[in-house]
Order: sequence, then structure tokens, then C-alpha cells
Amino acid sequence: MKTVKEGEVEIEVHEGESYDKEVFYNPKMEFDRNLSVAVASVVEPQRACDALSASGIRGIRYKKESEVPEVWLNDANPESVELIKKNVQRNGIDVEVRNKDAAVLLREEDFNFIDIDPFGSPAEFLDAASGSIRRGGFLAVSATDTSSFFGTYPRVSKRRYARKSMKTGYNKELGLRILVSAIIESLGRYKKTFYPRLCYFKEHYARIFGEVVEGAKEVKENFKNFDYISHCFSCGWREKGYHEECGLCGNETRRTKVYASKLNTQSFCKKIIEECKERKFYEERRKVQDLSEDMDVPYHYDLHYIAKKQSLPVIKTEKLMRRLGERGYKTRKSVYSPTAVKTKAPFEEVVDCMD
Ligand SMILES: C[S@@+](CC[C@H](N)C(=O)[O-])C[C@H]1O[C@@H](n2cnc3c(N)ncnc32)[C@H](O)[C@@H]1O
Ligand SMILES: [Zn+2]
Repeated sequence: MKTVKEGEVEIEVHEGESYDKEVFYNPKMEFDRNLSVAVASVVEPQRACDALSASGIRGIRYKKESEVPEVWLNDANPESVELIKKNVQRNGIDVEVRNKDAAVLLREEDFNFIDIDPFGSPAEFLDAASGSIRRGGFLAVSATDTSSFFGTYPRVSKRRYARKSMKTGYNKELGLRILVSAIIESLGRYKKTFYPRLCYFKEHYARIFGEVVEGAKEVKENFKNFDYISHCFSCGWREKGYHEECGLCGNETRRTKVYASKLNTQSFCKKIIEECKERKFYEERRKVQDLSEDMDVPYHYDLHYIAKKQSLPVIKTEKLMRRLGERGYKTRKSVYSPTAVKTKAPFEEVVDCMD
């Protein structure tokens, strides 16, 4: 065993753990745990559940650093629970520890804040979490099965999240939207809905934070934020809405219906930015700042992707932005890729500016 210090806590972890196998402690997730601590501090839940705890680090930090009054830590693996208990004791905190299947625990108890942080897909936990989460609560969901929702395995995405993913030049953002859509649909079955507040992709994982609201009317209203993204794999054309034919080359498109509204809300992000500043989480703060300024368009234009599809040379991102600006379009570098641009300009106009 070795000791690890993260945030204000110190825990024991198994020696020689590396991040690509199933581990109890993954140092690469510190960034995410820092942000989660900031989110829990801002949201101030009464009762939080770290449903897949592993070493317990996340839940322990919720208790110690976010000062959540009641925290539950759970893991299905008895070995992990042993470790959690040791780490809880070491940090001198008072929390509930359970050794159950997360879905079972969530069926039995309800919470104001639920963190689902699995290896792979969160899909199998969404239904139980949807039942468990209280009105006005908050959900934090991670997913590492990027090859499914980023478009390498569209059918796996369909099975897990009820829609096929698409390997487009904006597949990361689309992947986040696929996850958000599945969460909203799951909550809808319990007359609850979900508003994403902070969503991002980093290294090998996606992370979604959002608020849960109750009521059939709210559920119905939120479904109005869903729309199709139609994409032509022949020429790269894309547009919001249901279009069977490509607007540029006339070939058949592929379509997927997703939550197409904002993934990050400015007022919430502002609070998180302040919280990160106070806690000296500088890298996290920069990321949230960047996300909060994202444009309200559900996809971006990746220069490499479009150049390839249109047999054009790759120009500098700044050059495309300048040319679009000259035509009166607002532009912004995408938060998902340094070689991609967000703009309300239609595809045809972007292609024209790349020529
Ligand atoms: C990625 S780790 C959690 C990491 C932890 N949240 C952190 O921040 O360090 C996933 C954990 O989920 C546990 N697990 C897998 N399936 C589970 C289930 N059905 N119910 C509860 N725990 C489960 C595994 O034993 C593993 O410890
Ligand atoms: Zn086309």
C-alpha cells in the first residue's frame, strides 16, 4: 500500500496501480474530482451518494472539502469497501459506507446529489439514479466508453443510449449530447427532467453535471430542446433538423436526435469559476471559463475533416475565422478541438471561406 494526497485528504491505495486497468485510485481523475468538489460546494446538497466509490476518495472529499452534511460511499467490490473503510477512518470523518450493487442502493435510498463514476458506461445505473434523485437534486455522471458515443461503435451507442453515434468532425460534442439525451429520457420515466449545467470531455472520459427538475410539464418542455442533427458522410454537410437529403450534394444523410440546446449554462459556470478560484483549482477554472463561453450551436466545423471531405487544403483556424468575420459571422474556437470553429454560418459558407 502507498499513501496518496489529493485535495485536503490522504488515502491509502494499492501499490503499482496503472490507469488503464481497473484500479482503485486513478490519479488522472484528480481534475474531475476537483471540479466535482467545486460543484458539490456550490450546489450544497444535504445528502450525497458516491455510488461507485473504489478507494472512497471522491466521497471523502465531498464530506471534507465540500462539507456535505450526509455522504454515502458505496462499492460492489468487498475489497474496495475494506479500503474505503480504512480511508474513511484515516480521515476521521463520519459517513455511511455500503457494499451493494449501486442500482440496489439507489432503489432503497434517495439523495440530493448522486455521483455515477463507473469504468465504462453509466447506462445500467441511470434508471435507479433517476428514481433516487430528489426534486431539485443534482446528477454527476462519468462515461469512459468513448468509442461507443464518439461514433466508433454506433450500434453499441444505440443499445446503451437509444441512439446511434456518428463519427463526424464534431463527434465529441455529439457524444456529450448523446449522454445528456439518455439521462433526460431516463428521468422522464419518473416525471423528472434534467438540465445540463456543465459538461465536458477530457482525455479518456466524458463528464456531465446537471440539475434535476420534477413535473410532467417540465419533462414535456425539455423535450422541445431535442432536435435532429443531419449529417452527410459524402461531403461533410451538416444541419440541425431532419433532412433526409444533403443540402449540398443531395446524397442521403444520417440523422440522430439529441438534446440540441446549451450544454453549459453561464450563470452556473460563473459560480463554479468563483469556487475554483477560491480553491486554487486553476486548470479546472480555465476549462470551465472556456466551456461557459461556448456558442449555442450544436456542432462545430473541424478544418481537417472538412478539407478532407471537400478535397481542399487545410487553412489556419484563425484564417477561417477572419474570413467568416468579414462576411458578418461571429466565430469562436471550439472548446473540443483547436482546429475547429463554432459559428452560425451554414456549411456552404464555411466551405466557400476555406477555398
Ligand atoms: C472507476 S471506479 C470509481 C472511481 C472513484 N469514483 C474515484 O473517483 O476514484 C468504478 C468502481 O465501481 C465499482 N463497481 C462496478 N460495478 C458496480 C456496481 N454495479 N455497483 C457498485 N459498484 C460497482 C468497481 O468495483 C469500481 O471500484
Ligand atoms: Zn453531401
